[in-house]
Amino acid sequence: MAGVPDTLKGRHFTRVADWSPAELHLALDLADELKVERRRRKELRLLPGRTVGLIFRKPSTRTRISSEVGIAELGGMALYVPAADLPLARGESTRDTALVLSRFLSAILIRTFDQAEVDEYAEHAAIPIVNGLTDAAHPLQALADAMTIRERFGSLEGVRVAYLGDGNNVCHSLMRIAARTGMSLVAACPDVYRPDEAIVASCIDDARASGGAIEVIADPHEAVSGAQVLYTDVWTSMGQEEEHERRLRELEPYRLDAAKLALADDDAVALHCLPAHVGDEITAEVLYGDRSLVWDQAENRLHVYKAVLALTVR
Ligand code: CP
Ligand code: NVA
Repeated sequence: MAGVPDTLKGRHFTRVADWSPAELHLALDLADELKVERRRRKELRLLPGRTVGLIFRKPSTRTRISSEVGIAELGGMALYVPAADLPLARGESTRDTALVLSRFLSAILIRTFDQAEVDEYAEHAAIPIVNGLTDAAHPLQALADAMTIRERFGSLEGVRVAYLGDGNNVCHSLMRIAARTGMSLVAACPDVYRPDEAIVASCIDDARASGGAIEVIADPHEAVSGAQVLYTDVWTSMGQEEEHERRLRELEPYRLDAAKLALADDDAVALHCLPAHVGDEITAEVLYGDRSLVWDQAENRLHVYKAVLALTVR
């Protein structure tokens, strides 16, 4: 494996837009290399003696486990910190927490509700802050998504992606990485669950520079027609549990099922960031079918996180 470039040392990854197209490609290239080396069972101690904090305000399978495993595989130590155990609730500020943790740790991953909390850590920490999901963004997921799409189609430019359902955190980050890497993404969402309009407008601008295209429409059939990637996410995100029944009713036409896959390109694949609610946003037939790349996509969370750490941690 070639050496890891040091151009991103010390940088945060609070949202996909923190990194330029070239920087995103650097991370994707390194993730590909790390995947190959792992298959060869090659040990790469790129984080010797480093401790990385993992602060969680929401549950997780993929983000937590891929982080803990990834850090261990790079020769570092992961420290899982349930946010409720920190004295933030007793009045210690995020700023002071960021300043103190910067003296102990080499990087922090944070999963929380409010994007402003991640941004505040990033403002005050002297170490890289990585967003492990907020209500607004899920940038590590988007990197893994792009890695998975690139593995299948050979490049990202011009790949036609249809996102179905809730215009949420996952949709925002997917839209941004599509816009920065030249993909053409159509999101089909009901009016009440459209993605944030400011993010959409800025992604449309980004896409102009990359040769990609971003569009939000209401019709799921139009979105999937001729698409090469069909992507969906849970209809009720963490923190929205009270809206569950209403969301089930309103998002029902957006289910990723065999009929929608049949309208897509012949070589179309299905993606889902997981956890899936089988029978709601995706059918078992699609999730476990031969067009599903969902399990590769989940595995790729490990490789992209290792790449982000290897690139950013000093
Ligand atoms: N996709 C994803 O972030 O999964 P977890 O919520 O299990 O981390
Ligand atoms: N949109 C989902 C993604 C889970 C990985 C949520 O925020 O709960």
